[in-house]
Order: sequence, then C-alpha cells, then structure tokens
Amino acid sequence: MGRLENKIAIVTGGARGMGEATVRKFVEEGARIVIADLLAEGHDLAREMGDRAIFQRADISMEEDWCTILAACEHAFGTPDILVNNAAMQRFRSILECEVDHFRQVLDVNLVGTFIGLKVVGAAMVRAGSGSIVNISSVDGMRGANGYAAYSSSKWGVRGLTKVAALEFGPRGVRVNSVHPGGVYTAMGNPVDAPVEDINKGYGAVPAQRVGQAHEIAAASLFLASDEASYIMGAELSVDGGWNAGIYNMMLSGAPDDADYGSRRTTHGGNAFLDDALRAKSGN
Ligand SMILES: NC(=O)c1ccc[n+]([C@@H]2O[C@H](COP(=O)([O-])OP(=O)(O)OC[C@H]3O[C@@H](n4cnc5c(N)ncnc54)[C@H](O)[C@@H]3O)[C@@H](O)[C@H]2O)c1
Repeated sequence: MGRLENKIAIVTGGARGMGEATVRKFVEEGARIVIADLLAEGHDLAREMGDRAIFQRADISMEEDWCTILAACEHAFGTPDILVNNAAMQRFRSILECEVDHFRQVLDVNLVGTFIGLKVVGAAMVRAGSGSIVNISSVDGMRGANGYAAYSSSKWGVRGLTKVAALEFGPRGVRVNSVHPGGVYTAMGNPVDAPVEDINKGYGAVPAQRVGQAHEIAAASLFLASDEASYIMGAELSVDGGWNAGIYNMMLSGAPDDADYGSRRTTHGGNAFLDDALRAKSGN
C-alpha cells in the first residue's frame, strides 16, 4: 500500500523542477493530484500520469485562480487532503539594484500566493476537519543572502506564515509545515543550464559538497504530507545538504581541505559567474 493511498493532493508549480518530482513521487505512493501551474508543460505531465492527475492552469498570485484550482480538484477527485505550496519565482537583485515593482512581484507570487492557498484550500480542509499543507520555503528563509533581496524576504515570510497557519489550523485537524531546500538542480537553481559537475563546485561550503536533486526535496514533502508525520505541526525541515548547519571556520580543524565557501571554484570562476551569465542572458 502506498504512503499516500486514497489521498488527494494539489501541487502548485507542478509542471517542472521540484514540483514535477513531487507529483511523480506522490502518484507513485497512490495519490491523485491536481497540478497547478502557469506552464502548459503541466498538461503533458498530467497526461503521462493517466487518471491519477489533472492539470489546472493557474497563477497562484490570483485569488480567483485558487478558487478554480480548488473547484477543479473537488470536481475531479474530491476535497483535497494535501496541498504543497511549491510554486515560486526568483531573480537575483541586491537591495540597491532591486526595483520596487520587482520586489512587490516576488512577494506577490511567493508569499501572497502561499497565503491565498492557505486561505482557499486551507478553508476546505478545515471544513473537512483534516489535511496536511507543506509550504516550500528555502534555506534563504532562514538566513540572509546577498542578491536575494526580494526572494529571501518572501521565503522568510512563508516560514512565518507557516507558524501562524500551524497555530490556527492545528486544532481543526490540519497540519502545516515548511520545507527549506538548499540549492537544487532545477531551472531555478541552475538558471544558466550549467553541467551539474560545475554547479557542484560552487557547493564547497555545504557539508554535502554538492547541489541537491529535486527528488530529494520531494521525499521530505512526501513524509510531511503523509500520515507518518501525524504529530508534526509548525516544523521547519531543512533539506539542504547541511547548508543551514553553519559555516566552516577555516582557522580550525574539521573543515573539508578545499572548503572556501564555494567562491572562485567553478570552471567559470566562482559564484559571480552566475551573476555574469544571467546579466549576459538578459542583456543588462
Ligand atoms: N532550486 C533551488 O535551488 C531552490 C532552493 C530553495 C528553494 N526553492 C524553492 O523550491 C520551489 C520549487 O523550485 P524549483 O527549483 O522547482 O523552481 P522552478 O522554477 O523549476 O519551478 C517553479 C514552478 O513554479 C511555477 N510558477 C512560478 N510562478 C507561478 C505562478 N505565479 N503561478 C503558478 N505557477 C508558477 C513555474 O511555472 C514552475 O513550473 C520554489 O518554491 C523555490 O523557491 C528552490
């Protein structure tokens, strides 16, 4: 018997990356899924999943789209048992470079989108008296990161909102937790499409010494979504290869021989290569 047998789930941003890996894992474990995404690729994935999944095109920053997602779920499968608030956007901008409109746009999708999901789908779960919600935050929701002015703010917000939702929904049978991925090899984690070996070289400061893979994050969401996590509420689960555990003190023993915070180690010349490559791609 699958770990999500007879469960009905909504996965936002399910068309690619971690969302896609989550959809695949949940279906393997017996769930039926609504894939909600802006990208039409979600159609192909739903088709591949046969009668286990449907695709609903949606912009998670829009309340009416969330109502459509919920209605599509109830029509196709029934009341959702699981929501994975996974969809998000990211662009690298320092505070001085970040336009106010850009900051608002990122918060609108990543934080307000998650809030509306909690409000609309959470309400259906509260009515049913049971459910599990997994909010995908980030290692950047637990510490600061230069170049992530809007993104980091949004992910701290998602982490905080998770605690509020856990308090408010917990007594009504709905568990809410957050997952905090580190760097993951997806379109978001590797926007310049560099080979994984090169990306790994940028992870010298991370105990795992490599980037994460989408299925490794999906495994954490699966656990929190399942009944195995029945007593876990308001928790934050780091799935980051140890990134959030600390930084290496290069003056003491115990650090990897070549740890240097990942800077200047890729064949392209360190983390700044990402900035350069992205600027070249966007023409500014
Ligand atoms: N990749 C990483 O390194 C990393 C690290 C930490 C956290 N995360 C988080 O993990 C989650 C998944 O990231 P990913 O790496 O798979 O990213 P991705 O860019 O590969 O996939 C994100 C998906 O969300 C969808 N999406 C974006 N805006 C949307 C909107 N307004 N409405 C509906 N769908 C929308 C996209 O179309 C896409 O399919 C995100 O919340 C991200 O912030 C990623």
